[in-house]
Amino acid sequence: MKKIFIAPSLLSADFARLGEEVKDVVEAGADWIHFDVMDNHFVPNLTIGPCVLKAIRPYTSVDIDVHLMVEPVDALVGSFAEAGANWITFHAEACRHIDRTLQLIRSFGIHAGLALNPATPLSCLDYVLNKVDMVLLMSVNPGFGGQKFIPSCLSKIKAARKVLNQHESETGHMIRLEVDGGVKVANIAGIAAAGADTFVAGSAIFGQKGKDGYRQAMRSMRDE
Ligand code: DX5
Ligand code: ZN
Repeated sequence: MKKIFIAPSLLSADFARLGEEVKDVVEAGADWIHFDVMDNHFVPNLTIGPCVLKAIRPYTSVDIDVHLMVEPVDALVGSFAEAGANWITFHAEACRHIDRTLQLIRSFGIHAGLALNPATPLSCLDYVLNKVDMVLLMSVNPGFGGQKFIPSCLSKIKAARKVLNQHESETGHMIRLEVDGGVKVANIAGIAAAGADTFVAGSAIFGQKGKDGYRQAMRSMRDE
């Protein structure tokens, strides 16, 4: 069975006790922590920045997967890298110089991800895959937790899987395929079958009660 790699999104955690939430969800089985950054410009919501990342960093040693929903992107990359990000993913739609931004992220010795909104074509990946460590396909329009998975994203995930497999067979370079938005116990098996290997889930995990609830949710996701 393929490993279901789970990155709980802190967006649905209790912001008044973020450090403990990080600890609890990792003890409950999370593989990564997904850290959503929103700027009220690229997306209509406002969340957390580098100082919050720095504050939670000592609470876990698992990778922190920073999802930048900000425009412009480059000026923030250094502060998130220094605050302890292991992965920084930005949106193709928010960036004029994708190739440059990918290089900038990697220059800090961390992994670079490229995110695409549901309506953005996969052709954005052409010519930059050699600099990408992860493709993040949004399966909701970004900005809020708790939205419904957009079904047409399944065929896009399948198509992306083909592209990434082909790239890997030609170059030996493995790229993660992460899906973010509306991932639940009930649909994760279908999303995995379409080809995703990394799953962001916010409300489906943090909507449960405490560490035991988080553990149960992630167990059910893996058992599906
Ligand atoms: C949405 C964020 C997601 C969000 C997912 O813009 O990027 O990471 O927290 O939340 P759920 O899993 O509740 O859809
Ligand atoms: Zn996200």
